Amino acid sequence: MNVTESMSDEPTEDFGLPKLYNIVYCSRAAAGVDPATVDRIVATAHRINPVKGITGMLVFGSGIFFQWLEGPRDHVTQLMSNISRDVRHNSIISLGESEEVRERLFPDWAMELVAADDIRGVLEDALSTAEDPKNEQALRQLLQELDSGALDAWGKY
Ligand SMILES: Cc1cc2nc3c(=O)[nH]c(=O)nc-3n(C[C@H](O)[C@H](O)[C@H](O)COP(=O)(O)O)c2cc1C
Repeated sequence: MNVTESMSDEPTEDFGLPKLYNIVYCSRAAAGVDPATVDRIVATAHRINPVKGITGMLVFGSGIFFQWLEGPRDHVTQLMSNISRDVRHNSIISLGESEEVRERLFPDWAMELVAADDIRGVLEDALSTAEDPKNEQALRQLLQELDSGALDAWGKY
């Protein structure tokens, strides 16, 4: 079958790509959060996310979470509202939201855990693209706390 024939049933404008809603945020792990806690979070994500059509990435390092969620808008916003009430973290900084017709960034990851030795690099990247001055301020604050050792009380076990 040639390409034109194979696409003849696809929606004409977006070639069948899904409309994806995406949220990215970072937060501080609550005191006492250890690798076993993080494993439980990821296990929950692996159970629930595929059912909701959600994929993404969770970075954890130096007591800081950084998460990318993508999927259908209703499911992502519902999950985010659960996550924001979760006592295993706090001080959530929303770094961005968007809705676009595009391919998934992480099509094979129900929720991939990435250990960040260099969470500083992740935060600096977020800072370099932050448009909201409040986010910029919050990220600078986190980086300062990271450097001063103030976050050592978080995520330690
Ligand atoms: C940093 C962080 C990331 C999380 N990511 C997810 C996730 O991707 N998917 C998920 O189902 N739950 C995730 N959770 C857990 C949710 O907050 C919640 O406990 C879970 O969805 C179960 O909700 P329920 O008890 O209302 O069913 C995360 C929690 C934290 C603290």
